[in-house]
Order: sequence, then structure tokens, then C-alpha cells
Amino acid sequence: LILIMDFGGQYSQLIARRIRECGVYCEIVSFKISIEKIKSMSPIGIVFSGGPSSVYGDKAPKCDPQIFDLNIPILGICYGMQLTAYTLGGKVAHCESREYGNTRLLIDKNTDIFSELGSETQVLMSHGDYIETPPANFVVTAHTANTPVAAMANALRNIYGVQFHPEVVHTPEGMKIIRNFLFDICQCRGDWNMGSFVDQAIAAIRKQVGNKRVLCALSGGIDSSVAAVLVHRAVGDQLTCVYVNHGFMRKNESEQVVKTFRDGFNMNLVYANVPERFMNRIAGVTEPEAKRKIIGDEFIRVFETEANKLGDIDFLVQGTLYPDVIESGTDTAAVIKSHHNVGGLPEDMKFALVEPLRDLFKDEVRALARELNLPEEIVWRQPFPGPGLAIRIIGEITEERLEILREADAIVQEEIKKADMYRKVWQSFAILPAMKSVGVMGDERTYAYTVGLRIVSSEDGMTADWVRMPYEVLDQISRRIVNEVKGVNRIVYDVTSKPPSTIEWE
Ligand code: XMP
Repeated sequence: LILIMDFGGQYSQLIARRIRECGVYCEIVSFKISIEKIKSMSPIGIVFSGGPSSVYGDKAPKCDPQIFDLNIPILGICYGMQLTAYTLGGKVAHCESREYGNTRLLIDKNTDIFSELGSETQVLMSHGDYIETPPANFVVTAHTANTPVAAMANALRNIYGVQFHPEVVHTPEGMKIIRNFLFDICQCRGDWNMGSFVDQAIAAIRKQVGNKRVLCALSGGIDSSVAAVLVHRAVGDQLTCVYVNHGFMRKNESEQVVKTFRDGFNMNLVYANVPERFMNRIAGVTEPEAKRKIIGDEFIRVFETEANKLGDIDFLVQGTLYPDVIESGTDTAAVIKSHHNVGGLPEDMKFALVEPLRDLFKDEVRALARELNLPEEIVWRQPFPGPGLAIRIIGEITEERLEILREADAIVQEEIKKADMYRKVWQSFAILPAMKSVGVMGDERTYAYTVGLRIVSSEDGMTADWVRMPYEVLDQISRRIVNEVKGVNRIVYDVTSKPPSTIEWE
């Protein structure tokens, strides 16, 4: 076990992720952790994260100084190094100007954490304080043009510090440094993997839930699916999943989700198949925000009804991932609050949350999904918005228009998969704008709908670019939709990025 002491740094989870990538188990703990607690956890190494504070600040987070006497190797990163220096008698000072960005690191001593690195390398710096004088018995192992002590070491006590961030991709040789610390200094074995994560997560869920009952709003998306399967493995029939079909799902999607979880995983699954409830409320509504609100609100009502039918439920599973976690660290793990990922459940619906994925990044969840034998179509499912096709039909939603979009969308999915592009793009889907235009089919004039194609690449959905698709694939999609979907006579391709557009049209 490697402990990561969190001093409020924005990269604490990234440090954890890098350590997991090395096949080493780690846990993030608050800087307030007691020495007794640390001892009871028996870590073989400790990493101090960075943080926004200055060691001279009033509220500067400080750990128990006895931690340096435990004889456990320590790596301090950024603020973590400054705190080490300050606590052990070195001198920390304010920079004239903050140093931020890619910086050339000149390595003075290529041993220990810098072994197998050259005499210089690029690193990401981001700090307002610096170490003027290292503590006694520490040597300076690297510097930069502006930072005299960019790294320091006391090899005898196995205490190391770096002013830069080895955990970010902008420090290309950062992983080497982390590996050196883990394997050479801490003697980690590196045999931890997603299978071990499953075991640990199951044990933690059992401990949290006991013999109480758990509810999960399952959407069929990868996050809620993985969370549900994990909880199911841990507590079996104490878990009930509720899947709401609002009628705006894609072709065959609801049937597939229900089959996967009921038959494939043998789960208690309530299938709330209530499209008419949503259709009744959304008929005639064209304003995008109004559509979203109505669907979100009705979703909650359906969910509430089903939850009430089930009787006493204490826990709610949520597929929150680390990037969704606003509050930092593990201090908040047991907070009781209303669910917000499922459209914001009302305040009076109090559940304790079970969030087994809150430390993971998306690609780690995919790896976990494979470990749990989830079917490929769930592992690789592209993101799909909660309100579904309703926000891809511009203007009024009618059964006819839903059917047109559903069929057109199924063709897009099929062809994108055939072209081996489904996993390479972020999202690929059809849109139904509120417009008709004139065409000619056979010898007849047509006046029919236009279908828009939206195919984008993105890292996280925050920004996106339209994909430069091969013409043949676009051509094939266009031909098939016009030929196979009645009511469509024109296909257009959306060539705007986000910003200024958004990915969805509403
Ligand atoms: P936009 O359209 O804002 O979408 O560029 C960014 C990403 O978020 C997805 N999206 C949603 N996901 N509920 C969701 O779970 C929603 O209401 C919602 N709206 C948009 C969208 O598909 C894209 O991946």
C-alpha cells in the first residue's frame, strides 16, 4: 500500500491513477490522518500531494511531523516538498513571479528517483513558493533556471522531494520518476490490477451496506452499469435496479439493457416501461430547456414511484467517476445527500450513496467493465444524453418523428461500426431538424425531412471537433437513410466544432 496524503492538490487523483498504472495499490487520505492510523495501515511508501497553499499561510495544511520518523519512504510533490523542507528545517521563500508551465529541469544527481534519466528533461512547474535552502542532510538533486532547489533528497532517510509535477503528461519522464520511487525506493511488487480492485471494492461495499437494501438507477451507460454489477457482486439480491424507459431510447436499446442485466447478470431489475407518461407531457413542447425539465421531472416521479413500491431502501448506487467529483478526497465519502446524477432527486429522498467508481477515470472504468465481463456493447457504448432522442428532435416530438430518427440513428450506428469507427469517435448520431425540403424520388416530387449527422471527436465532451469522415462512409449512410427511412429525402453533415456549437443540438 502506498498512501497519498492529500494537501488539496488538483492532481491528487492523477497521482493515484499513475500509481495504479504501475500495478501498485494506493489510497488517498487527508493530511489530517493520525500517526496511529498511518501505522495501522502499514504503507510501504507515502506521497505528499501538491496543494494551493503556502506553508506560511494561516490555514496551510500540515501533517503530523512524526511522519518523517516512521522510516517509511516519502516523496513530496510541489507543496508536499515545500512542507517537507519547512518541517525539517529548510527555508521556503516566495517567488518573485510564479513559475508556471513547461520548464527545463537540469538534473544534478542521476540516482534514486532520477536514475535512468539524462542530465536534463522537461517538467511541468506550477508554484508560487520555492525552497531557498534544503534542510540539513538533504542534497539538491535538480534545479531549473529559476528554481535553485527543483528536487532534493535525503537518500539515507529515503525522503525525496520534487518541485514539479511528475504525474502529469506534460512531464514526459514523470512515470520513470514515479516508477523509480515505487520500485527502487519503496520496493513495491507491482502485482495489483483491476481484479484486485474488484475484490477491494466488493469488500468495501459489503462493509458499508451490511444487510441493508440498495437501489440503483440503471441507464445502460457504462458508469451506472459497472457500478450496478459491482454492487450486485457484493450484495446480490439486496440490490434492486430501476431502469426507466422514457420512450426516447434508441432502437432496441431498452430490451437489450433489460436482457443483459436480468438474464445475463441475474439482477433484480424493475423495468419501468412508461413512454406514454413522457409523451403525454412533452406533446407540443418545442423549447429545449422545457423538454429537458419535463423529462428530468417525470423521470424523478417514475423513479420515486418505483422506489416507494420497494419499501425501505437505505442506499443509492451512483456511478460517479472521479471527474464528476467536485468535493475532494475521501473526507466526503459518507455524506448523505440527494442524488443529482439521475436528474436531481428531491431533497426529501434521503439515501446514503454508494459510489464505487468515485476514484476512477473513464478508461479505468472501461478496464473494470471488461474485468466484470460486461458485454462489449456496454463497455464501448458512446455517451448518450439522459433525455435521449427527445433533444435530438428539434421542435415538436411526435411518434412519427421519433420513429424516423430512431431508424436513421440505427443506420448511422451500423455504418459507423462497419467502418470500424465507432470506438474511434466520441459520438456519432443522427439529428432530426424541424425542416422539410423538396426532393425528387423516382419521377415524383417529395417534400420530406432532412436528417443531420453529428460525428465528433472529443476527450471529455467539454470541447469537440467534427470528424473528417471518409466520403464513402458518409455516402453510404446518406444513401441508406434516404432509401430505408420513409419520410427523409436529404442528409446534411454538421461541420461545426464545440465551441461555438454544442455536441447535442438542444
Ligand atoms: P453538449 O451538447 O453540451 O454535450 O456539447 C456534451 C456531452 O454531454 C452529453 N449530454 C448529456 N448527458 N444528460 C447526460 O447524461 C444530459 O442531459 C446531457 N446533455 C448532453 C452529450 O451527449 C455530450 O456527450
